[in-house]
Amino acid sequence: QANASQAAPAPEQTATQPVATRTATILYGSETGNSQELAEKLSGQLKSIQRDVTISCMDDYKPKKLKEAEDLFIVTATHGEGDPPDNAIQFHEFLHGRKAPKLDNVNFAVLSLGDESYEHFCQTGKDFDKRLEELGATRIHPRVDCDVDYEELAEEWFAGVLDYMKQENESGANATVTEPTPAEQPIYSKSNPYTAEVLDNIKLSGQGSNKETRHIEIALDGSNLSYEPGDCLAIYPKNDPTLVQQIINEFKWNPEQTIPINKQGEIRSVQEALTSIFEITRLTKGLLEKAAAHFENEKLTKLLAEPEQVKSYIDGRDLFDLIIDYPPAPFEPSLLMQILRKIPARQYSISSSYKANEDEVHLTIATVRYNTHGRDRNGVCSGEIADRIKPGDQLNVYVHKNPNFKFPFDEETPVIMVGPGTGVAPFRGYIEEREELELKGKTWLFFGDQHFRSDFLYQVDWQNWLNKGFLSKMDVAFSRDTEEKVYVQHRMKENAQQLYEWLEAGAYFFVCGDEKRMAKDVHEALLAIVSEQGKLSQEQATEYINKLKQEKRYQRDVY
Ligand code: 2AM
Repeated sequence: QANASQAAPAPEQTATQPVATRTATILYGSETGNSQELAEKLSGQLKSIQRDVTISCMDDYKPKKLKEAEDLFIVTATHGEGDPPDNAIQFHEFLHGRKAPKLDNVNFAVLSLGDESYEHFCQTGKDFDKRLEELGATRIHPRVDCDVDYEELAEEWFAGVLDYMKQENESGANATVTEPTPAEQPIYSKSNPYTAEVLDNIKLSGQGSNKETRHIEIALDGSNLSYEPGDCLAIYPKNDPTLVQQIINEFKWNPEQTIPINKQGEIRSVQEALTSIFEITRLTKGLLEKAAAHFENEKLTKLLAEPEQVKSYIDGRDLFDLIIDYPPAPFEPSLLMQILRKIPARQYSISSSYKANEDEVHLTIATVRYNTHGRDRNGVCSGEIADRIKPGDQLNVYVHKNPNFKFPFDEETPVIMVGPGTGVAPFRGYIEEREELELKGKTWLFFGDQHFRSDFLYQVDWQNWLNKGFLSKMDVAFSRDTEEKVYVQHRMKENAQQLYEWLEAGAYFFVCGDEKRMAKDVHEALLAIVSEQGKLSQEQATEYINKLKQEKRYQRDVY
């Protein structure tokens, strides 16, 4: 790591202080909950060695308290183009501003989560690591930047931090050692997924649609897994067998040969490893560098000297492209482990209510298909589900709790939901649960898609809930049925007065779906509505919306 120095010895004054009085502060920045989950795990481990711990998301923490922090741990994701996650934006800004305090008495360490296929990999973690040092804090453990398969690296970072903290404990006056209290873990999790049976797999989009959106039902009986509206189901997909075969043929490997798949020395056949363990559909700069060490291909070495060309080459290409374009010297498949990363699970917003469908989970998945660099390609998971998964087949899954998308359950709070396309999924789960709980009250859904006839997802369900009063208002925008495009944000603006009244009455505002265009435009529309209806300046309107966010009344699940 460029700016991760070696662990520094603890400053003198900390060594003589009784450790029991030292408090560890854990701050996380989390978009989908992974960083939060890791932060909570760290908290459990620190408590098991008798540390007092305060833990919160960055934006719930009073930044002025930072000066008094003693051992500070940052666990953060990076979002989009190297931006902090939603619940870390204000803290990030504060720390990088002129009002940031001197932190000479603070020890710190940063655990950084990201996705190596993005250009600004782990940028937010890097920012904090650099800035804390600039402010005078002492790094007690090097930063680690984790890719999407972060578990092993995160464990190593925990172990390093814990070792340091234990040493600090031993040099402290009144350290006592007790047995660690194991955190309560669900049996099935990210590292131990449940093999679930698929009950149903139906195409939702009708004839004439440009899309192929599916409704999947999966059995959870006996898994002990449950979920709440807003949570996600993560699926470990299997790579396309045709692509796996092409790669094996090109390398002239024996598909039955066994190879190691991790540092613990577990083995799988080449066929199985390329199908279920390793990611073969995406290239990253890191992958190319590691491959170059074994390919002995001069052209590839040359390419790596040109960062801009690397960027444009890896875009949209996969491992098969790489070995066709840069033929490798013969090499042992046992080296795959050093080159490829693990297939990350794909997360889908759940579209059912557990309470209404005990032991089942429903998903709404748009099939991703495109043609690029001369070949037809499919999304790994959505393609598998569309082309190869039938009722009776199995999928490896786990439930991903989403702490940043939590609905209110009472009859008094009005709820506004914006979910075009598959973004409607969590709202179906939510309204289904309200029906199960017999909760009426004010609920308003904005839905949009291309065509009324072919893309009105779950039309019958919405109609039904409107009739029964579990959904009180629905506005739809079909963008390709009329000359002029209409989108959900246009419907919001047409209803500006009522929407603002709902907000003033304490409404929650939820957005799910496309991030780059839809969620951005919906945000702008919300800002405009608040400003116009509330007769507020741009600044005041922004303040109004920030307050909504802080009160968790503006929540987004966008991708
Ligand atoms: P379009 O593809 O016809 O432009 C769900 O995919 C719906 O979201 C579609 O109707 C799609 O319209 C629409 N959509 C595309 N861009 C959008 C944006 N910026 N804001 C809101 N909806 C958008």
